[in-house]
Amino acid sequence: MLPILLATSLLLGVVFVYLLWTRDWEHWEKKGVVGPKPSFPYGNVKPVFDANETFGDFLERTINKWPEEPLIGFYSFFKPMLIVNDPDLVKVMLIRDFHNFVDNAIDLSCVDSLLKKSLFWIKGYQPWKETRALFTPSLTSSKQKTMFPIMVESTQRHFYGRPQNEAEVFKAIKLMLHDSILRIAFGVEVDLINEMKNVDSPYKEYLEGDLFVDRKGSHLLSCASHLAHWYLKFSRRRVVSQERHDFYVRFINSCVDARKKSQETRNDILQAIIDIEKKAMAEGKPGFTPEDWASNMLTVMLDSTETIGLVFKLVLFALARNPKEQEKLRTEVLKNGSKLEDYDYDKVATLKRMDMFINESLRVYPPLMGLGKICVKTTKLGDVVVEKGTFLFIPTSSFQMNPKYFPNPTTFDPDRFANTGNVKSCSFLPFGEGPRACLGQRYALMAMKILLVKFLVTFNVSLEGDLDEPVVHSKKSPFINVFQEEPKWKFTQFE
Ligand code: HEM
Repeated sequence: MLPILLATSLLLGVVFVYLLWTRDWEHWEKKGVVGPKPSFPYGNVKPVFDANETFGDFLERTINKWPEEPLIGFYSFFKPMLIVNDPDLVKVMLIRDFHNFVDNAIDLSCVDSLLKKSLFWIKGYQPWKETRALFTPSLTSSKQKTMFPIMVESTQRHFYGRPQNEAEVFKAIKLMLHDSILRIAFGVEVDLINEMKNVDSPYKEYLEGDLFVDRKGSHLLSCASHLAHWYLKFSRRRVVSQERHDFYVRFINSCVDARKKSQETRNDILQAIIDIEKKAMAEGKPGFTPEDWASNMLTVMLDSTETIGLVFKLVLFALARNPKEQEKLRTEVLKNGSKLEDYDYDKVATLKRMDMFINESLRVYPPLMGLGKICVKTTKLGDVVVEKGTFLFIPTSSFQMNPKYFPNPTTFDPDRFANTGNVKSCSFLPFGEGPRACLGQRYALMAMKILLVKFLVTFNVSLEGDLDEPVVHSKKSPFINVFQEEPKWKFTQFE
């Protein structure tokens, strides 16, 4: 009798879980929204979790079935989610009704304490608005002008001996990006070239160490960060490696202490964070812990080094794959100066072809495959009522390859950005759009332009192998475009 009772209870339990899991699987059908049929237990996202396709491939494959539908529903496990396949609706989300879609869908803040406080993860309109307002003054265009000579100097410093091979070139880029942000955001001078020669240097360990705990396990975490937040609550895995964690906490706290002791007030990013603590304390909240300081500064540190480094590599790739465009760009640069020191902030701003080239590189090789937002207040989007808590994904890489918005999308043609007024609003979103767009867009573009001028006057950039071969992105990186195999770079120096 007992075994029968146990078996029956088990069966009932399984049926109960199944029914609970699948109870929302008609959500989109009932609203008249098209979409693929889900299957147990993944809903529609099994290929992404299994690393058989990237999230960008998933979005593209799904959109290709219903190319004319503005909204497409899918299910991530038990949760209904939406693809917003219409730049006009994206404009509503990111600009007109921004306050209804203010939260970013990506979340890792509950997994790793270091990610907790970054501006990027802040939830809720008011907390986000107040924090963003404190950061904004440190990255205005007038501030950019003062940063320009520092960045040029950092570039000259790290490209001084003329890197001789691929490894040295990428190391010079990395050091230049770190040196720039250390000086610009923290007011700290570190001789990174010498630090790299010192085996006991914390900077050497930091620059040569891995950012993440382990890249293998991070695939699951990365998928869950967008598509299965419930899983994160069970995950015990950290994201940032212990060495990096310790470095950030030590380094950022020493900068804060030095600044507080000096009683100096500067209009830089470090000051923005000090002001965030002051504001919190004025509201009766506790001051920051050492981890809080590091956490507040992390987005800026990572984006100004790792993100720009990754994106600049995609721009270099575009340069190498399109030798004629590289020549046009070099001609424009040489017309304005034969070396980087001939340039100032205003002169770089006149390099129109360079702007067009960077835009086209970001269109054809987008660093991010999509943007995810959460609806924070039940609202109508187009003809559909979207409930509070719904995740919505904007398929940026699909828009950027859609002939409706970019004719002959596979052709690399910077001229399509000759007049940006011709580009459909919200169809090109490498830095997002609206009030929550990238805070560091100007900083990133300035760094990449300075590097590009340096490269164009110093090297011819090319690749070994067939230039027409399709680019393969790693399926282990579901949301960020990373090459499956490192291209075979060739940097030939001019005399
Ligand atoms: C080429 C390099 C970069 C790319 C492609 C990039 C792209 C983006 C994108 C797509 C977003 C999300 C926008 C949205 O949700 O609508 C974002 C947000 C953000 N970015 Fe960047 N970014 C870059 C570099 C930087 C740099 C250098 C900084 C800092 C100096 C930075 C700081 C931020 C911050 C703080 C946010 C969050 C803004 C907020 O939530 O209010 N980014 N970035």
